[in-house]
Parts: sequence; C-alpha cells; structure tokens
Amino acid sequence: MRDYEFYYTQDGSIGLYSHADDDVYHSKFGAVTEAWEKFILPSGITSKINTVPKLRVLDVCYGIGYNTKALISHAINLNEDKLKKENSIKLFLKKIKNKFKKNFKIKNKKNNLENINNIETIDENNNLEKQEMLLESIETNKQEVLTEFTVDCLEINEELVKISPLLKTLITPQEIFTRIVPRIFDCFDTYWKIRKKLSKMALKFTCKNKKEISELLDLKFNNNYDEIDNEYRIHDFVNYIIINSLVEHYKNKYITSDIKKVIKNRKLKRFFARNLIKYAKFKQDSRYNFISKTNLLGNLHNIYYDHLSNRYKKAKFKVAEKLFKLNFYVNDARKSILELNGQYDLIFLDAFTFSKAPELWTVEFIAEIYRRLSPNGILMTYSNSALVRNTFLENNFYVGKIYNKKADKFIGTVAAKEKSLIEHPLTNYEIGLCNTRAGIPYRDPSLNSEKKEILKRREYEFKNSELMTSSQYMRSRSSNNINEENDEQI
Ligand SMILES: C[S@@+](CC[C@H](N)C(=O)[O-])C[C@H]1O[C@@H](n2cnc3c(N)ncnc32)[C@H](O)[C@@H]1O
Repeated sequence: MRDYEFYYTQDGSIGLYSHADDDVYHSKFGAVTEAWEKFILPSGITSKINTVPKLRVLDVCYGIGYNTKALISHAINLNEDKLKKENSIKLFLKKIKNKFKKNFKIKNKKNNLENINNIETIDENNNLEKQEMLLESIETNKQEVLTEFTVDCLEINEELVKISPLLKTLITPQEIFTRIVPRIFDCFDTYWKIRKKLSKMALKFTCKNKKEISELLDLKFNNNYDEIDNEYRIHDFVNYIIINSLVEHYKNKYITSDIKKVIKNRKLKRFFARNLIKYAKFKQDSRYNFISKTNLLGNLHNIYYDHLSNRYKKAKFKVAEKLFKLNFYVNDARKSILELNGQYDLIFLDAFTFSKAPELWTVEFIAEIYRRLSPNGILMTYSNSALVRNTFLENNFYVGKIYNKKADKFIGTVAAKEKSLIEHPLTNYEIGLCNTRAGIPYRDPSLNSEKKEILKRREYEFKNSELMTSSQYMRSRSSNNINEENDEQI
C-alpha cells in the first residue's frame, strides 16, 4: 500500500515523504545534489574508476535509487569519450564490412571467378594499409581498462524499486514555473499576476535563458531555488540501464497491475517519464525477441524499433549497459545483508534517521557492514551524530567527516578500515562527544528485533549509564577553555 508522497526538491529532482515513517526520503534542498555531494564526490571513487577492472558497490536503502543513479552517471560521464570511441570503432568496422560485401557483389557480377580472399583486388582505393592500422588501434583500445561495476541494492519497499527508473530525472524549467512556484507561495493570486508579467516579457523556456529564469525567480520570489549543477545531472542512459536490470530481475512481473496503478495515477503522472514507461513495457513484453519471423507487420515493427526509432537507439547504449550489473535485494536489509558474500569497495548507508530506523544503525548491523567492506573500501553516510559515529568506532572503523567545499561545512560521515583513506578525521572533541551518553549505540543481537524493542533497549542503557551527558561534556570543555575550533585533529 502506497503511503508516500512526491514533491519537488529545490534542485528540481523528485523527493519523497513517507506518512508511515513521518520522514522525508530526500533533502528538500535537492535529492540529486545530495546524492552527489554526500555519496559520490567525497567517496574518492573518481580516482578508482578505470584503474581497476571491477568495483563492487553496496547501496543500503536504495529507495528510488539516487545514489546508484549518480554513481552510474558519474562513471558514464568519465567514460563518455572512451564509450564513444568504442561505438565509433564498431561503426567503422561495420563500414568496412559493408564495403567488403559491396565490392564483393560488384566483382562477383563482373567476374564470377574473382577470389574473395584477395582483399587487395577488392579494395578499389587500395587502402589496405589504412585498414591494418585501424585494426591495430582497435586492439590497443581494447586493452584500456573500463571499470565494471556490480551494484547490490538493498531496499525493503518493492514499489519504490520498481518505479525508481520510471521517475523523471529532473523537472523542466516549465515545470519549475508551474509546479514549484505556486507551491512556494501557496497563493495563486500572486502566481497569476507574476505569470502574466513574465509572459508579457515573452520568456521562452529554452536552454539558453534557463539561467535568466532562475535568476528571475530568485529575484521576484526571493526563494532559494537552486538550479541543479550541470555536473550533477543524471546521464540519460542511467534509467534505461536500471530498467534493463529490473526486467531481468522480475521478468514479466516488473510492470504489474499495482505498478500500473501508480504510474497511471492522474495526480502522480507528472512525476513519471512516458518514454521510460514505454521502454520498460516494451522490454518486459520482449516483443523483439519472440515475435514470429513470418509475421510481416511484427517484423517491420521490430525493424523500426531496432533501426529507425531514435528513442530506442538512444536507449541502446550497449557498451555502457555492459559495465553495470545491478542486483536487487528487496527485503529488510538486515536479512538481505546476510545473503551477500564478498567485499565492497564503496558502501552507501542511506537509512532514515536513527530514531526512525534504529534497526539499520545497530552495532550488530554495522558489524555485518564492516565484514563486507574491503580493506581499501569506504562507507559514506549523511549522518553526523555522535551515536552513529560511536557505532562505527565500536566496530573498529576509522571514522571521519564529509567536507562540503561549497557550503564550507561537514555534511556527513565516512568510515574505513584503512586510516589513510580518512581525509578529515574526527577531532578529539568529537571523539569525546561519542563517549558521552549521546553516543550510546543501538543494539540488536539477533538482527531481527522490533524497532520498539531496539529503542527501549537503548533507553534503558541511557538511563542507567554513568557517562556524562553531551551537555555536561560541552560545559566541561568550555570551562576548561577547549572548544571545537582550537581542538586538533587526531
Ligand atoms: C532515506 S530513504 C533512502 C533514499 C534513497 N537512497 C534514494 O536515493 O531514494 C530510506 C529508505 O530506506 C528504506 N528502508 C526502511 N527500512 C528499511 C529496512 N529495514 N531495510 C531496507 N530498507 C529499509 C525505505 O523504504 C527508504 O526507501
């Protein structure tokens, strides 16, 4: 049963709010921006891509998949030149083949006795040398490393997983105008007045004046809408890649009647991309694979999709697709994690805040995560709390902070097994804070306790603890004139 609501976050990406959890799934400042700034850019993954043949990633709490999407997008962007090169090499090879065939036919017509193995006679322009050079360059290109990713996605809500690639990646400037503006003001009078004024100015929503619009909006509405940074945009092919993985995972049970209800819902329609839905249905029905060769109309249809339709062609970013293997584990992450073997180079931990989802911040769950982090791997999470940091410390992680240059502040926590991977370690002050009552972690020895039980267990420990409270600690530090600023990092 659907209990969540969609909204637009301030960078134009779609966010979710859950009634049952009474929590937002994404930062209202920007769901996509958050994924890039808290999970992708500070992870150091950029320097690993294309230096190793394989990277394993664990996305704990996949939701509608922004962290995975941003990661795939980042890898495609970094590889774009190489991928294009591969595509152009393929096209070139095709051309050579065609030329070979054409010449073969001509020669055959002229002289049936011509030997097709004699390339020199076939190549009218005598550019055999060129062809040899090309084949050589193909061989060298093949040796370049293109890192392959395996992404294991853990999520409890199947509906979210299924709709994740069907959601629009970003809203258009028109939608910003018609959807966000009225919401911000919640006042249609102002909206219509301003709209009239703007239309008089004959604003056209084209790429080149996008900036003007956001500037205008800032000026007129004094809101803090931020247009998404260009480097944070999700690459077009990402959703197609995820659809292909989901079709493979669910076979013909991907677009079920329940999902149809969600994507057809009149109120929700604007959040979904029609192209992606069509592509998903087409993939699920597998018309191209199973249609009879004797069915002429069916065949023409297939030829159209395979060779003519631009949209379909765009979707066929085959080389990129091969680089990403996505596996979905739709269950309580505490159960799913026990099924996972091997170790991960990158782990995203994006569970709800600990008071809402204590089961995913317990010492025992984090211990399972620790076991699955490779020696050079890194874990990223948005939480800055003493409780979360102490839970990592209890599990022998080295713990540090995620620094955001733009905002000039720390926006999350990183954990690793290797000390040198921590760029901004916790200060003495912050470690001290972890050792107060605020840092008392949640416990779930059997990994299947009810939320309430986990919360109660900690409450009991908290009440009976002899540790200082965090405010006592802060007071004692300030009376001794030690504060966060003059504290050194350890
Ligand atoms: C903050 S949201 C994650 C947002 C997500 N990373 C995204 O990009 O959309 C938390 C997610 O955790 C999921 N969740 C809650 N409890 C869970 C559990 N015990 N196991 C697995 N997933 C859980 C929720 O369904 C929700 O999608």
